[in-house]
Amino acid sequence: MNFSSDTAAPAHPKVIEHLAQANAGPAASYGDDGWTLQAEALLSDLFEAPLRAGFIASGTASNALALGLLCPPTGGVICHQHAHIYCDERGAVEFFSHGAKLLPLTGEHGRMSPEALQDILQKVDERFVHAIPPKALSLSNLNESGCVYSAKQTARLASIAHDHGLSVHVDGARLVNALAFTGAKPAELTWASGVDVLSFGLTKTGAMGAETILLFGANAERFDELEARRKRAGHMPPKQRFVAAQIIALLEDRLWLELAAHANEMAAALADGLQNLGVPLLHPVEGNEVFAALTADQSAKLQEGGAAFHVWPDGSARFVTCWNTEPEEISKALALL
Ligand SMILES: Cc1ncc(COP(=O)(O)O)c(C=O)c1O
Repeated sequence: MNFSSDTAAPAHPKVIEHLAQANAGPAASYGDDGWTLQAEALLSDLFEAPLRAGFIASGTASNALALGLLCPPTGGVICHQHAHIYCDERGAVEFFSHGAKLLPLTGEHGRMSPEALQDILQKVDERFVHAIPPKALSLSNLNESGCVYSAKQTARLASIAHDHGLSVHVDGARLVNALAFTGAKPAELTWASGVDVLSFGLTKTGAMGAETILLFGANAERFDELEARRKRAGHMPPKQRFVAAQIIALLEDRLWLELAAHANEMAAALADGLQNLGVPLLHPVEGNEVFAALTADQSAKLQEGGAAFHVWPDGSARFVTCWNTEPEEISKALALL
């Protein structure tokens, strides 16, 4: 009953198989290998668009390098007040952007409202040298309350941002869960809705450690700058074939979708069970995360019975399901309650 995080899950056996296959003899370093070429082509097929991809081993580095590319040191990045970049990355975006400021907005269920975005952008006066002009918008999909931004919601926010000259970034550490939930095509939740740069995560899906920064459309022209930033930041793995091999494993035969759909299904089953027991949920369950208002007694019963979960800053219990969550783990946790 490990519901602590999808980063606690093991790597999928297919990922290990592909890593073993890639472990045959020498290969060119720093991304000049065949696996990197193949992974980039598979990503381009998946998103149905020409793109450039920078391979990274952690989601934090992916967000920070992507936003460093989009926002100058004197600018600001608008994000939700609960965004991972704002609450959980120890200033990585500020560090990699050489000082850009994060500008948090509120919004229900982790979603930024178009009105709040419009409001902050309308007040910007570029000539007023003392204030920080926003230069990028960053949305998380799934967001930090486990909720999705639909294609329509993404497009609305992106269009407001673009109208005010901002670039649009998505933290897609769990985009696969949003895709599985909405049934949208990867293009629809990203570039076709105005997303310029995507931090696309596969680690939480079932990789050992595989994230990519995807540059869509004209942003692809900034690939050389991204490469320079990856190198200087120490985020250019010399044996990049092993990151690429993991991406190939998850994209081939749409394994990513199967794994994300399973994780979502397990979260929905847990949410149903909790609701049947009268446990209130704080947010709609639209992916692989469930936020529940447990009593102290319920929390203790679960913990004593061996269930792992995190208590969130708002006091709720956060349960995360993964590609390998078994239905029996859900029924055992519900039985404890
Ligand atoms: C929404 C979101 N973005 C980014 C990250 C960062 O990923 P990493 O832990 O690989 O740096 C996480 C990690 O939990 C996350 O939940």
